[in-house]
Amino acid sequence: MIDFRTATSADIPLLESMYRKEIEDHAERALRFAEDLVLRYKTLLAIKDNAVCGTVVWEPRGGLDDGVVEMIGLGVNEGFKRQGIASKLVDAMIEETSQFFSSKGYTLRVILLFMEKMNETARKFYSANRFKEVATIPSLYPLDDASIWTRHL
Ligand SMILES: CC(C)(COP(=O)(O)OP(=O)(O)OC[C@H]1O[C@@H](n2cnc3c(N)ncnc32)[C@H](O)[C@@H]1OP(=O)(O)O)[C@@H](O)C(=O)NCCC(=O)NCCS
Repeated sequence: MIDFRTATSADIPLLESMYRKEIEDHAERALRFAEDLVLRYKTLLAIKDNAVCGTVVWEPRGGLDDGVVEMIGLGVNEGFKRQGIASKLVDAMIEETSQFFSSKGYTLRVILLFMEKMNETARKFYSANRFKEVATIPSLYPLDDASIWTRHL
């Protein structure tokens, strides 16, 4: 069974170990990654058997009166893909961000994200999750253009 919950400082070791297993075995970068997710941004985790199998990372973009949240990152580990986990993480993020805005007297209006334009899997995923591709920024990334997607609520 997979649980979805907000990451806290107690999850830093769990996130470091996920980074070293899934991304690269580099202690310093793993710690920076884990601290960013918990201390700099807001992060929701998908957890199975006390291991992280997916994450979604977000922060409000601009003033709260704009009602815009940027999805900074979304990832599901190998072995857990195509099981609906990322779709559930996006739904959980929308629920959490909606509550975040309304608790401060505002309304969440738009989810915004940037992705590498050539990422065909992400393109299929976001299209299937009611996002629309709205703009391109040429050469934003070292090896690709950025594609900007939005979902209006
Ligand atoms: C993109 C990603 C987050 C999707 O995670 P996931 O948990 O496998 O996605 P879901 O199971 O919720 O997929 C929902 C729908 O998206 C589409 N989709 C997802 N992965 C797909 C793939 N590899 N090929 C085609 N369609 C795909 C399908 O329509 C799928 O529904 P279905 O399985 O019923 O056909 C995952 O592949 C990933 O971590 N990729 C690497 C990181 C990345 O690219 N992140 C996004 C850019 S920032």
